[in-house]
Amino acid sequence: QTIYLKDYTVPEYLIHSVALNFTLDDENTLVSSRLTLSRNPASQSHDTSLTLSGENLKLIRVNLDDGDLSKAQYLQTQDSLIIHDVPQQQRFVLTIDNTINPKANTALEGLYLSNGMLCTQCEAEGFRKITYFLDRPDVMTLFTTTLVGDKDRYPVLLSNGNKVAEGELPDNRHWVTWEDPFNKPCYLFALVAGQLECIADRFTTQSGRDIDLQIFVEKHDIDKCDHAMQSLKNAMSWDEQVYDREYDLDLYMIVAVGHFNMGAMENKGLNVFNTKFVLARPDTATDSDYEHIEGVIGHEYFHNWTGNRITCRDWFQLSLKEGFTVFRDQEFTGDRTSKAVKRIEDVNMLRTRQFAEDAGPLAHPIRPDAYIEINNFYTLTVYEKGAEVVRMIHTLLGAEGFRKGSDLYFERHDGQAVTCDDFVSAMEDANGVDLSQFRRWYSQAGTPVLSVRQHYDSSAQTLTLTIGQSCPPTPGQPVKEPLHIPVTVGLLNKDGSVAPCKLQGGDQVCDEVILQLTQSEQAFTFEGLNEQPIVSILRGFSAPVKLTIERSLDELAFLLSYDSDTFNRWEAGQQLAGQIITGLIADLQNGRDMAVNPIMINAFKQVLEQPWDDLSYFSLLLSLPSETYLAEQMQIVDVEAIHAAREFVTLTLAEQLQSQFQALYQGNHRDESGKFDAGAIGRRRIKNTCLSYLSKLENSHIHELSQQQFNTAKNMTDQMAALAVIVNNPHPAKQQCLDSFYHQWRDEALVIDKWFALQASGSMPDTFATVQALMRHPAFDLKNPNRVRSLIGAFSQSNPLHFHAADGQGYRFLADQIIALNTLNPQIASRMVGALTSWRRYDEGRQALMKAQLERIMTTEAISKDVYEVASKSLAQQ
Ligand code: ARG
Ligand code: ZN
Repeated sequence: QTIYLKDYTVPEYLIHSVALNFTLDDENTLVSSRLTLSRNPASQSHDTSLTLSGENLKLIRVNLDDGDLSKAQYLQTQDSLIIHDVPQQQRFVLTIDNTINPKANTALEGLYLSNGMLCTQCEAEGFRKITYFLDRPDVMTLFTTTLVGDKDRYPVLLSNGNKVAEGELPDNRHWVTWEDPFNKPCYLFALVAGQLECIADRFTTQSGRDIDLQIFVEKHDIDKCDHAMQSLKNAMSWDEQVYDREYDLDLYMIVAVGHFNMGAMENKGLNVFNTKFVLARPDTATDSDYEHIEGVIGHEYFHNWTGNRITCRDWFQLSLKEGFTVFRDQEFTGDRTSKAVKRIEDVNMLRTRQFAEDAGPLAHPIRPDAYIEINNFYTLTVYEKGAEVVRMIHTLLGAEGFRKGSDLYFERHDGQAVTCDDFVSAMEDANGVDLSQFRRWYSQAGTPVLSVRQHYDSSAQTLTLTIGQSCPPTPGQPVKEPLHIPVTVGLLNKDGSVAPCKLQGGDQVCDEVILQLTQSEQAFTFEGLNEQPIVSILRGFSAPVKLTIERSLDELAFLLSYDSDTFNRWEAGQQLAGQIITGLIADLQNGRDMAVNPIMINAFKQVLEQPWDDLSYFSLLLSLPSETYLAEQMQIVDVEAIHAAREFVTLTLAEQLQSQFQALYQGNHRDESGKFDAGAIGRRRIKNTCLSYLSKLENSHIHELSQQQFNTAKNMTDQMAALAVIVNNPHPAKQQCLDSFYHQWRDEALVIDKWFALQASGSMPDTFATVQALMRHPAFDLKNPNRVRSLIGAFSQSNPLHFHAADGQGYRFLADQIIALNTLNPQIASRMVGALTSWRRYDEGRQALMKAQLERIMTTEAISKDVYEVASKSLAQQ
């Protein structure tokens, strides 16, 4: 059953307040809900019945205005409760009692149990698994929540807002009442109960209010919360400085749980997090874990304004809060770490994963117009492309204009549930601009392709760039309209210096300009150029598009040395490596010998011999495009040739530049575990990049080097990096290192996840056998999403070489797991289908094998909406 955006109507009823009472029990929790409702005057409907959503609930009692209803007065269906007649003229009170079984809840949606702790996940539509309600984001109400439970079993009782009362009860029980003073939709409701420990701190807001900050974890994790706490304080000040947004409650709580379907959840005043994005200690978490924790803590914190105070009218508007909040967290991380590196990491992910989604059978606009299961639309498109769309508005308006727009948005819509259109309108109105064509980014799916032609006229001293845009059709959208695209351009002289940018007709001379591309083809002429400049285009990746421009290897090498735009400088190196690897793939496919063009080796040598301040950026310049990115560039993906060609380039670089890599390794290898400043992180990063090149040389000296780093590492970054090169090369001590790592970390679930993921994404020939053996490992658990992602997810999504084995064993294996997960956890099951959706990109043999497994998945008994939607759309005619 498909839901359409065009069918949206306002809610028929409003809920003025709700009082929830939970009598907690692992297997039989009693929920008593008292709703104060009235007819919504804005609704056109004349229906006098009231339909509430609810699933898997055992109904005990329905009471309307103090009278119990008889069975004839309501109807209970699979997913709803219909009260036949409710008052139309005045407010009425509905009290509903029902029970639920958290222990049986393996879908981890609604109220469930994680390592003995009761917790909730309600976004998008999980609240209906707790009690009957108007479970839609435009129904906002005031929540009062009372939790009652055994003092030993549930010593800590948490919900949204402020704690207003608590007390003791007979039979060793206690209770707490929480009151949230802000109106909110039920998807932001949360409850946590269990044996939790907490670290506390305080933050004083810019206006001088003191906020209590608390992070709750299981007892044995209490030594891994400091970084999360610091990250929260950093996020709170950043939002004050950059957006003038202050926190609004007196208390901010974060709870880390080991079983969680996604990263984290922004429930008002009570965020629930996957432990992965909270827990860190230098010896257990890598530098990138530290960075991601700060990013996700920021993300959920920023949702307090972009998501909670102002929420979505309906789930089609999800990108309103997610796109904007991702943009905010990206900028936060960029400010806290390295802007250049953060931008490259984000673009890398967008181009490998989101572009694939946008080119496949599940392509959808950032504001989808139809869905079967909303949980399937928490996608890279809604999140990451959504953030790019917000970033383009920021680029078009400038930082100041954007801030004017966000100020107006917050002022105009505080307390409301609104649409993406409302957001764009606020940006327009605050700046007096017209973004009507720009709005197509919200409704059109697919990645636009820009093709650039250059013409230099030496007599006129002008350069003309002719830019064409087109966008391939996507399911349901055969024809595309031109988009409004900001294209940032800079010009370079042959000596590497900046050439002036002066657009014909304009009067300003700048170092770079933002071209406004609005037509399917448009020419832009630059004047006053006495020599032909080298064009640096789409600087900072100013739009989420594919760029085609003819470039020689020499030109790319030049840009890699001289481009003043950090993104394009890196991009030139990626293009250079990409062209070379693509050439080698063709050599392999045609049985020719491979040889790496010296231009590339010299370009890398140049990079290696320059001094660098930002060592993380430096190591990105030395990193080759991933196999997944290379696959994206091919018509028909040849996983084996991609792997072999890329490995060959790695080996050649290692051989040719061995002394440089070695010197860099030595120069940056020092013991500064526990230091997380940009310098120390950069040194670890460049050192480990060098180690990974050197490991290809396969001599005993290098084997010793990696083993020594593994044995002596005092931080997880170095230990993991060493283990990775040991596992991915024929290292004599491989098994011994894997075993000792397991024994060292057997009590740290997040580290054991890394151990699974590393083996599952390995490149050695025995990888598939290893994956099968790991499925039977006592530490593997299909009910734990982090474990599933680290074994099944890593194998199918990060190991193209082995997942796409020509005999189809990888596909069959994945389908087996999806079928098992379908009943246990539909959300995770449908995420896992992702690896099969791109079947049309492979050769005929693989296509048939992948398709057969999708068809087999379609025959799953009691197939969930989640899996059904992804599998059926994957198979649909294009
Ligand atoms: N709103 C959460 C976040 O982005 C994610 C919730 C995901 N929910 C889901 N059903 N997939 O921070
Ligand atoms: Zn979010």
